[in-house]
Amino acid sequence: MSKRFYITTAIDYVNGQPHLGHAYEKIIADVIARARRSLGQEVFFLTGLDEHGQKVQQAAQAEQKNPQEYCNALAADWQAFAQKLELTNDDFVRTTQPRHKEFVQATLAKLNAAGHFYKATYTGFYSAKEETFLTEKDRLPDGTFDASYGEVAELKEDNYYFKLGAQQQWLIDYIEANPDFIAPSYRRNEVLGFLKNNTLEDLCISRPLARLNWGIPLPFDPEFVTYVWFDALVNYTSIAAAHGDEAVLPHSTLSTQNSKLSLWPADIHVIGKDIVKFHAVYWPIMLKAMGLALPKQILVHGWWQKDGAKISKSTGNVIDPIAVINEWGLDAFRFYVLRELDIGPDGNWTDAGFRSRYQAELANGLGNLVNRSLSMLKRYRNGVVPAKSNELAADAAKAADETRALFKQGQLQAALQSIWGLVNRANKFVDETAPFKLAKDPAQAQRLDEVLYNLAESCRVLAVLLNPFLPGTSAKIYAQLGLTGTPDKLAEATWGGLVAGHAIGEPAPLFPRKDV
Ligand code: ME8
Ligand code: MG
Repeated sequence: MSKRFYITTAIDYVNGQPHLGHAYEKIIADVIARARRSLGQEVFFLTGLDEHGQKVQQAAQAEQKNPQEYCNALAADWQAFAQKLELTNDDFVRTTQPRHKEFVQATLAKLNAAGHFYKATYTGFYSAKEETFLTEKDRLPDGTFDASYGEVAELKEDNYYFKLGAQQQWLIDYIEANPDFIAPSYRRNEVLGFLKNNTLEDLCISRPLARLNWGIPLPFDPEFVTYVWFDALVNYTSIAAAHGDEAVLPHSTLSTQNSKLSLWPADIHVIGKDIVKFHAVYWPIMLKAMGLALPKQILVHGWWQKDGAKISKSTGNVIDPIAVINEWGLDAFRFYVLRELDIGPDGNWTDAGFRSRYQAELANGLGNLVNRSLSMLKRYRNGVVPAKSNELAADAAKAADETRALFKQGQLQAALQSIWGLVNRANKFVDETAPFKLAKDPAQAQRLDEVLYNLAESCRVLAVLLNPFLPGTSAKIYAQLGLTGTPDKLAEATWGGLVAGHAIGEPAPLFPRKDV
């Protein structure tokens, strides 16, 4: 059985409602998953929730709920959110599920037996907000810790440690030998710089029960629970095991599997810039100790701000993705976040910017093209497709070839730019050929046929290219063209799919104009 293309998102802490940043990351992964399926690959797309740890325990306490009940209530909201975004995820992991907990314990037992852990007393500082230990080196020049760490508490306690010291050089060598392992390249350079200029401190993998009980018990010492990051990262493999993946199964206590998928190693872990160290340093070292292959790529996106300021619940500077989707439609939201921001740098959401892209690129660009092309075909040819004509064939082929290549490189913004090259070319073609004038002159009947074919066929090709980004819009274009099925195979972007004599459906505006 062939290995599936395996793509994951970070799993989100369940200490609140999903926001723009979470939506963005999931849409990136969903578009790549759909694009790979469109290229003909079998895909497995995993997203889910990170439910353990001090941060979640504190959030539950603040609402006077038991942590599991608190997580269950919020998990329903997050799963509904995944549906609202029309994610095509194949599974949804919750780290409180037995299938995950058993795998984490089996992994810990195995690593402990192999001598990777030792017990020692820790004295230092802890940020619950970022679930991370801090040292004197993390202090700012004025002696405080950065505000992003929230409240930092001083600690002295016994814990288990994972030896990292000996692991630094092979990881440097690996990252240098595999230039695509961390993308974009400036994130890769940051990781290399970090590894070359610092000595890795051993990773604390436990929390004493006295301080935290909301976690997975260590299988070899009941006085401790597992550090939430050691638990969370393992989800990428525990869920592969839950689907019977033999590449990870020897590490599992689970033996009876119904399905048998081949998933590991992951092809892409999509994550935000704040958690690169966990994914590009700790996770590869954990995997090597587990005897597992490394993921092929860690794809790091930037952070959204709103109106140039950090998105923050406390200051009310938030975007509610659900409200935006309800007002403007899901595809407009998916389009804006991927068209506005390349995968890498930070982005800035402005309501004015959103409206302007909606008007210019969706309503006046794509929407107007499809609506006037199909309306003219309806009016002048009774909705019947004329004989094939190839004037825009080269433009369509260029967009399709570029899109295919850019999908493989995960270059989603560039793919949208290339697709809009065809939208703009076709709109210009309408202006140049002026079919409404041709229609008045019976001597121009053949020329009008040619123009109408080129426009209708361009719309069909656009439906195919846009499908991973704007699945709803793509399906509407197909239906308005009178075509059955879904335009979900990139191979169908080849020019000439519409045949003479085919009757199209009813044109209707794709993106209603909004007066604001
Ligand atoms: O870090 N813009 O969870 P999390 C873009 N549980 N992305 C953002 C963002 C913003 N404003 N805010 C957050 C965790 N993110 C861990 C992950 S993975 C094994 C465990 C992104 O809920 C952030 O970068 O704090 C991360 O990739 C994801 O949302 C979840 O963040
Ligand atoms: Mg975070």
